[in-house]
Amino acid sequence: MRRAKITIIGAGNVGATCAHWAAAKELGDIVLLDIIEGMPQGKALDLLQAAPVERFDARIIGTNNYADTAGSDVVIITSGIARKPGMSRDDLLATNLKIVRTVTREAAAASPNAVLIVVSNPLDAMVYAAWKESKFPTNRVIGQAGILDISRYRAFIAMELNCSVEDIDALLLGGHGDDMVPLPRYTSVAGIPITQLIKKERLDEIVKRTRNGGAEIVSLLKTGSAYYAPAAATVQMAEAILRDKRRILPCAGYCNKEYGVGGFFVGVPCMLGDHGLEKVIEVDLDAEERKMFQASVDHVKELCAWVDKNWAASET
Ligand code: LAC
Repeated sequence: MRRAKITIIGAGNVGATCAHWAAAKELGDIVLLDIIEGMPQGKALDLLQAAPVERFDARIIGTNNYADTAGSDVVIITSGIARKPGMSRDDLLATNLKIVRTVTREAAAASPNAVLIVVSNPLDAMVYAAWKESKFPTNRVIGQAGILDISRYRAFIAMELNCSVEDIDALLLGGHGDDMVPLPRYTSVAGIPITQLIKKERLDEIVKRTRNGGAEIVSLLKTGSAYYAPAAATVQMAEAILRDKRRILPCAGYCNKEYGVGGFFVGVPCMLGDHGLEKVIEVDLDAEERKMFQASVDHVKELCAWVDKNWAASET
């Protein structure tokens, strides 16, 4: 049987760490691509040389040439500049739109049947741009964000309760921005509703820290943004697709009738399997949750309107 092929575009911290997690899980053969000459080759060779110690079998190559990515099953797009302290994800829009369009065009042409997983920021606009550029069907373009955001929320809850992260189940909706919507009503610890274990005021603080989770790390690192957790989240999506697990994970999936979104990519529970996005799961929202979700969707729509308006000007 042929091994799966995973291409990772952008060999910076997020891309290289995706390669690391994907290799450790033996998800398939890995191609790490970057425009910087030598850098992806060096990182790929270094990772390959970890295989005998960590005992994983995978062909791992670094390249500057899209021909090497041909026929990939999954393409992960991490290219773009990262935030500096004080910047919002939206401040990256103009620069990253051009970059994401260019790499998507090349990668989609080389792997016309791949599922694209977009990680570049501002995420909800970049996944929309990658979809427009690739002209792929909506089930084969998905954005990574919700797993990362929910993982931060779960980590903070585990810290608060001094319990295993494994027992924490949670749900989060909306865009990957400051208005993301963690849902305490859909959060439980070993089946126990979170509201029985943490007081509302304290939980509100944890939700606030979650929303600010990316910026907290940017302000500590000063020269870039998070990469361990973003990469782990991305590879969980790739695994669900390549192993056809039909996992239900919060991702930026295409919603038309779903949640009444009307044709945009927003964070919702997505079933991921062989076809990419198998389906969007709709959950009941109360009035307050719906209001917060709508505010987040409206923000995503604004970013996408900017993308549409600047589409011709961002042609590279
Ligand atoms: C974060 C960036 C990568 O949330 O969006 O850390």
